[in-house]
Amino acid sequence: MGRIESLSLLATLSPFLSLTAFAAIGPVTDLTISNTDISPDGYTRAAVVVNGVFPGPLITGNMGDNFQINVVDNLTNETMLKSTTVHWHGFFQSGTNWADGGAFVNQCPIATGNSFLYDFTAKNQAGTFWYHSHLSTQYCDGLRGPMVVYDPDDPHASLYDVDDESTVITLSDWYHTAAKLGAAFPTGPDSVLINGLGRFTGGNSTDLAVITVEQGKRYRFRLVSLSCDPNFTFSIDDHNMTVIEVDAVNHEALTVDEIQIYAGQRYSFVLTADQDVGNYWIRALPNGGTVSFSGGVNSAILRYSGAPEVEPTTNQTLSTNTLVETDLVPLDDPAAPGEAVAEGVDYAMSLNFSFNGSNFFINGATFVPPTVPVLLQILSGAQSASSLLPSGSVYSLPSNSTIEIAFPITATNAPGAPHPFHLHGHTFSVVRSAGSSTYNYANPVRRDVVNTGTAGDNVTIRFKTDNPGPWFLHCHIDFHLEAGFAMVFSEDTDEVVSFNTPSTAWENLCTTYDALDSSDL
Ligand SMILES: *[C@@H]1O[C@H](CO)[C@@H](O)[C@H](O)[C@H]1NC(C)=O
Ligand SMILES: *[C@@H]1O[C@H](CO)[C@@H](O)[C@H](O)[C@H]1NC(C)=O
Ligand SMILES: *[C@@H]1O[C@H](CO)[C@@H](O)[C@H](O)[C@H]1NC(C)=O
Ligand SMILES: *[C@@H]1O[C@H](CO)[C@@H](O)[C@H](O)[C@H]1NC(C)=O
Ligand SMILES: *[C@@H]1O[C@H](CO)[C@@H](O)[C@H](O)[C@H]1NC(C)=O
Ligand SMILES: *[C@@H]1O[C@H](CO)[C@@H](O)[C@H](O)[C@H]1NC(C)=O
Ligand SMILES: *[C@@H]1O[C@H](CO)[C@@H](O)[C@H](O)[C@H]1NC(C)=O
Ligand SMILES: *[C@@H]1O[C@H](CO)[C@@H](O)[C@H](O)[C@H]1NC(C)=O
Ligand SMILES: *[C@@H]1O[C@H](CO)[C@@H](O)[C@H](O)[C@H]1NC(C)=O
Ligand SMILES: *[C@@H]1O[C@H](CO)[C@@H](O)[C@H](O)[C@H]1NC(C)=O
Repeated sequence: MGRIESLSLLATLSPFLSLTAFAAIGPVTDLTISNTDISPDGYTRAAVVVNGVFPGPLITGNMGDNFQINVVDNLTNETMLKSTTVHWHGFFQSGTNWADGGAFVNQCPIATGNSFLYDFTAKNQAGTFWYHSHLSTQYCDGLRGPMVVYDPDDPHASLYDVDDESTVITLSDWYHTAAKLGAAFPTGPDSVLINGLGRFTGGNSTDLAVITVEQGKRYRFRLVSLSCDPNFTFSIDDHNMTVIEVDAVNHEALTVDEIQIYAGQRYSFVLTADQDVGNYWIRALPNGGTVSFSGGVNSAILRYSGAPEVEPTTNQTLSTNTLVETDLVPLDDPAAPGEAVAEGVDYAMSLNFSFNGSNFFINGATFVPPTVPVLLQILSGAQSASSLLPSGSVYSLPSNSTIEIAFPITATNAPGAPHPFHLHGHTFSVVRSAGSSTYNYANPVRRDVVNTGTAGDNVTIRFKTDNPGPWFLHCHIDFHLEAGFAMVFSEDTDEVVSFNTPSTAWENLCTTYDALDSSDL
């Protein structure tokens, strides 16, 4: 029985069961972006929603599938921007850089009243992904949702019984004020939403998400941080979690009792429902906002079938076995690219971060979106990094080369740490992790967002250039990206033109966007 069938059968058999599962769509689908009022935590505010809901619907497909996602822009509220773009976080977009969604790097935004078809293939990729607006801070206002690519030959398949719409767990920070109307750097969210539901301090006891399990079964949960800002300490009372996937890369099974998850990161973990039939708290503590669980804030419910429909009374399990990034080992091909010595690569770079009170700088440049997308500049003939805009923020990377990037953090160079850095177009090996001063070239974790840690850390990543195109590297705290904490790698620039062939519709995005009145942007 397929995933969809089993879900609808479950719904038919148990009409009174409160299902918080997502109804999946894809890989060929429309996504309509619009504004509506929502109250996920009991407080009503205007938001940016996908197909009418927040978080956006789960999009699924199988490894190798061609995703054809037609994004329809039906936005009306200029405070949260009427234009949009969508980034499909984690997909390599090899040969389809134009579909990567980064505003003014990969495309001009889609203007309201228009649509744009994102057409890309999950070549050799499977795992847990997500999608979000990549225009200014728009995703904080709601345009964010989970995405799963199933692998029919999953090497970890024997470890779990259930992996479907009901096993996706999204974590979102939620604000009662639209991103453009609040502080440039909010101190914390008003609430944390798990699968789109949550509570805030001083609010009512609104519905929390309920995740239902059957005693004796093993579940592949897919934990997705849709965060705009905070990291979360995630745990489930009285249950261990066996991590098997990190940011869409299979890893050796590793059992933990707590996971620190940073903005944009994903983990699949197996949970065995081996406790007494009952209700157990699922906890996601943010590092800002309300940092307790009192009154059910920052919480959801794990409910065994047959348990009464009441809130849990479980106490938080004292963690003795938190996830340590350096313990994660990729399942396949675990060695980092390059030689097993410091800077044993073709091209090494150490980033110099700074902050001037309002903007972040990398090597002296704050990222200001150019008016012409970097990809369009390249397709129009600009080839050297020095001629690509924004000036000082674009770096050339040679083709077929091993690359090393170091992110040194000091007490003052990057306030607001820890900063999770995301590289588009690649996964990378983290040869030095936050909190560690040793280098592992043999089998380091491989992922696409890395926590760059706090003062004294010098997190270092490696990857190989095999994907011509301009790719964003940025802090995934959206308020920091908005403050310029980003740069662009123009990878194998010579090959970009022959490797990426955008459509006329893609070129027309700029014509339409550039003609907009300021009230329609
Ligand atoms: C877009 O908005 C218009 C006007 O509000 C509405 O009539 C139309 O049904 C919407 N389209 C979609 C696909 O939601
Ligand atoms: C537009 O969004 C802003 C910010 O969320 C909100 O204050 C305003 O009420 C919204 N306007 C409408 C017409 O919903
Ligand atoms: C709690 O719910 C009541 C009844 O719906 C409503 O009037 C009140 O405003 C809510 N309180 C908060 C803080 O949202
Ligand atoms: C979790 O795993 C530890 C060993 O790592 C074990 O001691 C503990 O009993 C397990 N907890 C549960 C609830 O299974
Ligand atoms: C967030 O990250 C920091 C730095 O790694 C860590 O100290 C903290 O425990 C994390 N989580 C929370 C909820 O603060
Ligand atoms: C939770 O902890 C309190 C205080 O230590 C204790 O009284 C209570 O029995 C515990 N509840 C459970 C379900 O273990
Ligand atoms: C920080 O840098 C930005 C961008 O260069 C500039 O606009 C701003 O005025 C600077 N702020 C301060 C406080 O110097
Ligand atoms: C890093 O950048 C800051 C600010 O631009 C500058 O003062 C400092 O000298 C730079 N440090 C290095 C090592 O380049
Ligand atoms: C990439 O470089 C390696 C050696 O660094 C070489 O053996 C290989 O042929 C190159 N591949 C391509 C496609 O250029
Ligand atoms: C961080 O690592 C890079 C590359 O190994 C090195 O060049 C740089 O000096 C280091 N920075 C600090 C502050 O240790």
